[in-house]
Amino acid sequence: MRTDVAIIGAGPAGLLLAHLLAQDGIESIVVEARARMYVAARIRAGILEHSSVELLRNVGLGAGVQARGDEHRGIYLQWPGQRHHLDFVDLVGRSVWVYGQTQVQADLVAASEAAGRPVYYGASGVGLHDLETDQPYVTFTDTAKAARRIDAAAVVGCDGAFGPSRAAMPAGTRQTWERVYPYSWLGILADVAPSTDELIYAWHPDGFALHSMRSATVSRLYLQVPNGSNVADWSDDRIWTALATRLGHGHDGWQLTPGPITGKSVLPMRSFVQSPMRYGRLFLAGDAAHTVPPTGAKGLNLAIADVALLAPALGRLVRKNDTALADAYSDTALSRVWRSEHFSWWMTTMLHAAGDPFDEQLQLSQLRWVTSSTAGAAGLAENYAGLPFGL
Ligand code: FAD
Ligand code: PHB
Repeated sequence: MRTDVAIIGAGPAGLLLAHLLAQDGIESIVVEARARMYVAARIRAGILEHSSVELLRNVGLGAGVQARGDEHRGIYLQWPGQRHHLDFVDLVGRSVWVYGQTQVQADLVAASEAAGRPVYYGASGVGLHDLETDQPYVTFTDTAKAARRIDAAAVVGCDGAFGPSRAAMPAGTRQTWERVYPYSWLGILADVAPSTDELIYAWHPDGFALHSMRSATVSRLYLQVPNGSNVADWSDDRIWTALATRLGHGHDGWQLTPGPITGKSVLPMRSFVQSPMRYGRLFLAGDAAHTVPPTGAKGLNLAIADVALLAPALGRLVRKNDTALADAYSDTALSRVWRSEHFSWWMTTMLHAAGDPFDEQLQLSQLRWVTSSTAGAAGLAENYAGLPFGL
């Protein structure tokens, strides 16, 4: 097969890139290792930044967010005995939207199918070749066990943290940075109306807790747990009791309403960056190039920002053989990536119990500052609601 751009991975980065390229008249073929149903069902991120929503609207993908998303002015930050609302709209003029990655993915799949764009699900043995030439190609075996080859002007690795694209850059050409945190999140999905109008990020000596949501009837909540924790050790009762304690059930009359838990999983927390995000005709976008711990709600938004930058660069490359934007892609993208890396690390270290009494006092001091100083609050708000694309 021949196309303009071969895309590896049909997560949000890969499918959105295919959509943006198609709007510009550029063809692509997407190759995905997993089955369509598996990709569609993954429960992941929940918050869209202002710029992500604007982009989805501008490219004809905004109907779902508009109809089923929930615009939030800000978040609550709390520690025992104290709950403070940060109003991002007042602070920096930007809001965020609760709209799950599962819904974003469903909208992208619907757009891809409506346009008849080719996506090969269930591909195995995906390989990247001749990336340092201007005739790179991708090989894989399809679900009918047929060997396939896609020749393209460029290959984009949108294959997340475990795909083959990262490592397709020869060892001497890339640098990586990594931080592994000494704790994980236990995430639950519950069929119960959220007990809050906006997200609650809670510092607690027992560990961090987050009350998020997916809709008026579905709540998403997280608890900090030790690395290596097993969901089997966390009964529904134990989870709701820990959440009630950490989220301040009973304080000032606030109540956490428990409900049936429909999903439980443990997520490790990691920061990771690989640079540059380009090697010859291979470009990396989204989690393929970087990972952030979820505390700043940045992972999905960074993937969207990467492809928003990459699509016009590939357009110029394919159509005019003009490499100016493609050459600038990695440095421009990494500047936003590192801002998000810093913010995610900062939120994570401010809010998670790490067992050090000195750190604990620093965290509480930071929380008091962020919730009492307009300058402190605006810094958090600007990063959380997200900088405009290009910054
Ligand atoms: P992905 O969504 O990972 O998509 C990559 C795709 O590539 C996948 O479909 C994968 O199957 C495919 N692939 C992998 N290998 C191959 C191969 N060999 N060949 C072809 N295709 C391949 N972010 C937040 O902000 N908040 C959260 O709460 C949150 N929770 C998360 C929970 C989990 C378990 C994970 C893994 C991530 C979470 N994230 C969260 C991060 C967020 O979901 C990601 O940043 C986002 O999915 C990035 O999109 P992507 O398209 O770059 O990568
Ligand atoms: C979520 O709803 O899954 C979510 C929200 C905010 C975060 C992380 C996860 O910071």
